[in-house]
Amino acid sequence: MKGLILSGGKGTRLRPLTFTRAKQLIPIANKSNLLYVVDDLVAAGVSDLGIVISPDTGDEIRQHLLEARPEGVQFTFIEQREPLGLAHAVQTAQGFLGDESFVMYLGDNLLSGGIGHLVQEYEDSHPDAIVLLTRVENPQQFGVAVLDPDGRVLRLVEKPKVPPSDLALVGVYLFSPRIHEVIRTLKPSWRGEYEITEAIQGLVDREMPVVAHLVRGWWKDTGKPEDLLEANRLVLAQVTRRIEGEVTECDLLGEVVVEPGARVTRSELRGPIHIASGAVVEDSYVGPYTSIGQGSRVIGSEVEFSILLPQCEVVQVPYRLDASVIGQGAVVTRETRRRRQHTVGLVVGDFSRICL
Ligand code: DAU
Repeated sequence: MKGLILSGGKGTRLRPLTFTRAKQLIPIANKSNLLYVVDDLVAAGVSDLGIVISPDTGDEIRQHLLEARPEGVQFTFIEQREPLGLAHAVQTAQGFLGDESFVMYLGDNLLSGGIGHLVQEYEDSHPDAIVLLTRVENPQQFGVAVLDPDGRVLRLVEKPKVPPSDLALVGVYLFSPRIHEVIRTLKPSWRGEYEITEAIQGLVDREMPVVAHLVRGWWKDTGKPEDLLEANRLVLAQVTRRIEGEVTECDLLGEVVVEPGARVTRSELRGPIHIASGAVVEDSYVGPYTSIGQGSRVIGSEVEFSILLPQCEVVQVPYRLDASVIGQGAVVTRETRRRRQHTVGLVVGDFSRICL
């Protein structure tokens, strides 16, 4: 079985962060979403991986994966010239996929518990598709499935204005090569995309076996800043204390990870948090569900429930940063010193400068 990771697209909902990087590379607990996806596939025994990339962000994705390359994994990069939809991405990858079954995993999706059980089930029963579903409060923003009382898939519809159920399609799909026959017959949807949801509907219409499962743990589509923070929270909730960097005169509580080469001084650390290598924290408070990127500096400031990308600076900020995403190389600092009375929530693009 091959793996197909979709890492093209535009990421407009994550601007300004995606002006300067691929959304699949934004770190969650200091590891890119894309690497969680690769790890899930490899753990399930799928190591021949096709990566769909766009002309805009393809190079950084290629570089990122080749640098991190886990042992025994083979990457084939497939350029999709325009983001014409998930089914179009599959069609573009047909040369790589050949006649094999495959797992398709969206590069901006994060799943707890892995996909090993799904791959195993596929190998045991060889249906034409296995899809994953989960209940959501905003089904209009997803592909939505309707099941019969026995759990069989009756209907699938992409981003319905009036959702027929609250069961959203999660971005992990297992397909037999018969999906290609259906994709060839698709027409663009109302939003101009070739929808994988419609291709799966095509399998259902042709009475080919389509199996649906509910997600066991949690799932996140990291398409928006609030989803990134929530994904960061969910991943950090699983970390355990590991102090390998230098920590002096600090007050530590809970699950705190300080990577080798990070330096933390005279600060209050309340886990779960993750401080990457080369980061410096001084005279600061780092509160729960925060990750601080490689080489970032937090000096005389308070940060909580936030993501700091690599090489950014939060220096003497007079407000507590809360629910913030600070881009790579961005600087947040103060104009004049004031008492901290408020919190602020920021989404700051790479290399910005903000004085509060
Ligand atoms: O996250 C789950 C949802 O993903 C499903 O519920 C929907 O049915 C499915 O259509 C998809 O919806 P999104 O609108 O969230 O898809 P998005 O455009 O964000 O693309 C998902 C991933 O696929 C992302 O990593 C970018 C990549 N992509 C997207 C398009 C449209 C490509 O590689 N090529 C493309 O043409």
